[in-house]
Amino acid sequence: MASRSLLSRAATSLRSQVRSSRFSPSFSGREACIVRFFTTPRPTSALVARYHQYGQVDQVVKIEEEPLPELKDNEVLIKFLAAPINPADINMIEGVYNIKPPMPAVGGNEGVAVITHAGPNANKFKVGDWVIPSGPGFGTWRTFAVAHEDVLEPIANDIPAEMAATVSVNPCSAYRMLHDFVPLKPGDVVIQNGANSAVGQSVIALAHQMGVKTINILRDRPNLDSTVHRLKQLGADVVVTEEFVSSLKMRQMMKEIGLPRPVLGLNCVGGQSSIEVSRWLADQAPMVTYGGMGRKPVQVPTGRLIFNDISLRGFWLSRWVDSHTKEERRAMISSLTDMIRDQKLSIQVERQPFTDFSHALQRAREPFRDAKVVLVMPEEVVPGC
Ligand SMILES: NC(=O)c1ccc[n+]([C@@H]2O[C@H](COP(=O)([O-])OP(=O)(O)OC[C@H]3O[C@@H](n4cnc5c(N)ncnc54)[C@H](OP(=O)(O)O)[C@@H]3O)[C@@H](O)[C@H]2O)c1
Repeated sequence: MASRSLLSRAATSLRSQVRSSRFSPSFSGREACIVRFFTTPRPTSALVARYHQYGQVDQVVKIEEEPLPELKDNEVLIKFLAAPINPADINMIEGVYNIKPPMPAVGGNEGVAVITHAGPNANKFKVGDWVIPSGPGFGTWRTFAVAHEDVLEPIANDIPAEMAATVSVNPCSAYRMLHDFVPLKPGDVVIQNGANSAVGQSVIALAHQMGVKTINILRDRPNLDSTVHRLKQLGADVVVTEEFVSSLKMRQMMKEIGLPRPVLGLNCVGGQSSIEVSRWLADQAPMVTYGGMGRKPVQVPTGRLIFNDISLRGFWLSRWVDSHTKEERRAMISSLTDMIRDQKLSIQVERQPFTDFSHALQRAREPFRDAKVVLVMPEEVVPGC
């Protein structure tokens, strides 16, 4: 596991390479003094959260210092500002994900970075631009990276860094699932479990913008009232616990509020929870499974398939990215960043310093968090501000 002494030794070494600075990634790029990147010395090493074998994430991931090579041709040097810890990142390290990176690998699949230096023929970005990886497997839990400019995509730098860092997986998945399975129209209803997850929060906000109502299921929790309040602020119409949805009270409540049956179900839990999602679906509606947080197989009552002809579908964002153009992905991300800027979409985040990586990891694996853990890279190694 990451040793604090290595972290502090490496951070000190990085600090000595670049001038000390004050910069908070929760500020947008324009608010930060990006122009001064032009004049700063180039760091020669980075801190990376690396694993050499698959296994328990708290046992196999270690913070290491790695040298940064000279920039060639179309390469750029990027400084990571923020990167989330998503469930798929953990599954990937455990070796149970559909993508198995070659060893050794750096953890993290999404995050936002700023271009600090450009190679001799790099012309896609300017120093100071914000970028995100163009696909999974980049290894975003790091302070700096040297990358070919073609594996990076531009992202708006006038939104909070933690939002730019988290827009490309969970909000994009919510967007696709609301657009690609059923032609939703205002007044339609969507039902989902794991509603307080980052995907769930995005589904609520996006559906609300579309005039689509949402029934949201989450696990009972110590802070239930505040979670329900937050989801309603995002635009949730109904928020219920897994216990409530399986009780007779749910039937009574649905009768009283008079919502039509959902035309789309979204399942990221499985087991009993998927039974409850499928139970409420309208005839021939699909239940789309996109996650397996409960680590139980998807279950559906037999009668729902026979008598109501509901269908079971699956969704994987990586498949969508592979089968669509960079322009299509860029357009989707751009419409999501517009919504973030207009404060119509936000994900609750918990900022954790990368310098205390093991604590961040521990937080990310705790239940009932209600907020996505986002690693915030050490501000003292941002040059020039
Ligand atoms: N297929 C795709 O392309 C795709 C894309 C994005 C995400 N995903 C998947 O979507 C799911 C949610 O991702 P996220 O990043 O939005 O999650 P997140 O923000 O990290 O939140 C995790 C969610 O999982 C719930 N959860 C954790 N353990 C659970 C359990 N044992 N039983 C029931 N619920 C449990 C949590 O509920 P509590 O608050 O009650 O702990 C919370 O709602 C993950 O499975 C992820 O891999 C898939």
